[in-house]
Amino acid sequence: MSNPNTLRLSFETQPSEEDHEYEKAHLATILDRYKDRLTTFPKEKGWVSEHLYMYQGFWHLSKGVFSFETMMALQEAFEAHPTDIYLATLPKSGTTWMKALMFALVNRTRHENHRPSTHPLLIFNPHKCLPFVEPEIYRKTPTYVDAHRPRLFATHIPYTLLPRSIIDSGCRLVYMCRNPKDVLVSLFHFTNKLRDESRGVMTFEEAFQMFSNGVMPYGPHWDHVKGYYNAGLEHPTRILFLTYENMEKDSVNNVKRLAEFLGCGFTEKEEAEGAVEEIVKMCGFENLREVNKHGDLREGVPNHTFFREGKVGDWSNHLTTEMSNILDQIVKEKFQGLDISF
Ligand code: A3P
Repeated sequence: MSNPNTLRLSFETQPSEEDHEYEKAHLATILDRYKDRLTTFPKEKGWVSEHLYMYQGFWHLSKGVFSFETMMALQEAFEAHPTDIYLATLPKSGTTWMKALMFALVNRTRHENHRPSTHPLLIFNPHKCLPFVEPEIYRKTPTYVDAHRPRLFATHIPYTLLPRSIIDSGCRLVYMCRNPKDVLVSLFHFTNKLRDESRGVMTFEEAFQMFSNGVMPYGPHWDHVKGYYNAGLEHPTRILFLTYENMEKDSVNNVKRLAEFLGCGFTEKEEAEGAVEEIVKMCGFENLREVNKHGDLREGVPNHTFFREGKVGDWSNHLTTEMSNILDQIVKEKFQGLDISF
C-alpha cells in the first residue's frame, strides 16, 4: 500500500474560486468541442435529464459532467496509470456502497489510528471520498495527487467505450452489477426525487417501458453488464465481477475477496481482530444512510437520495407479474450462455 500521507482527497482541499472558474470554463470548452456530434445521434426522452443520446450502442447524457462529451474528452486525453483501480457500474447498482468499501479497504492503514468518528466515511458521502473519473478531464488539480498509488476512480462508462489508456495500461477494474429489476425500481425512485418539477412525475409504467427498451443512462442494462462480464472472462486477473446480491448475501467473504483483488488483503491478525466485519459495518446501508441524512452532494442532489431501501428484491413490490415475465424473458435471451444470476 502506498504512503498514506501522500493522499489528497477532494473533501480535504476546497477548490479556490479561481480553480472553480477554471474548471467551469474548461468543461464549457469540452461541451462546445463536441456539440455538432450531438445532432447526429438518435435521441430519446431521458429519466432525470430531458434527453438521452444513442452513441455506439449505449444511451448517454449530454451537456454535463457525466455526458458523452466528457467521455469523448477522456477517450482523447485521459492518462490512466497501471496502478489505478476503477470501479465500473451502471447507475443504481450499488455504486455508492462499493465506493465506500473500496475507499475503506485501500486507505485503512491511513485511518486505523484515528478516532473512529473522524473516518471520512463517517463524515462525507462516499461519492466525495472516491471520485468519478469524468471530472478529472477538466480539473485544474486532479483529485488524487500523482504521488498517491493506487488512484481510485469510478465510472459508468461501458467497457467498449472506456478510454484506451484504461484498457491498455493493464490497471484493475471492479465491476458491480445488480438484478435489472431492482435497478429499474431504484432508478425510478431516484428519478422522481431529482427530476425537474416542470417534467412532472414519472409513472412506473413509463419507467418500465423505457427500461425494457434498454433506455437508461449508460444502458441497455444487459449490454453494459455483458461488456464487462466478457472482458472479465478475457482478463480474469484484471477484472473482478461482483453482484450486489452476492455482496449482500455474504459481505464478509466478498469483502475479503475484494481486498485481495485490490492488493490489500487482510492479515490473519486483522481478521482475528474483526477488521473485516468493522469495514462491512461501517460501509453498511444503515450506517451510511445515517451519516448522509443531511446535506447535498452537489446543488440539487441531496446526500440521502443515494440511500433508499438498500434491499435485494424490492422489485416484487413494484412489478406486476406480466412486467416481471417480460424482463425475465429479455434477460434470459441477453445473458444466454453467461453464468450470471441474481
Ligand atoms: P435502492 O434504491 O434499491 O434502495 P447507486 O449507488 O449505484 O446509485 O445505487 C443506489 C442503490 O444502492 C439504492 O438502492 C441504495 O439504497 C443502495 N445502497 C446505497 N448504499 C448501500 C449500502 N451501503 N448497502 C446496500 N445498498 C446500498
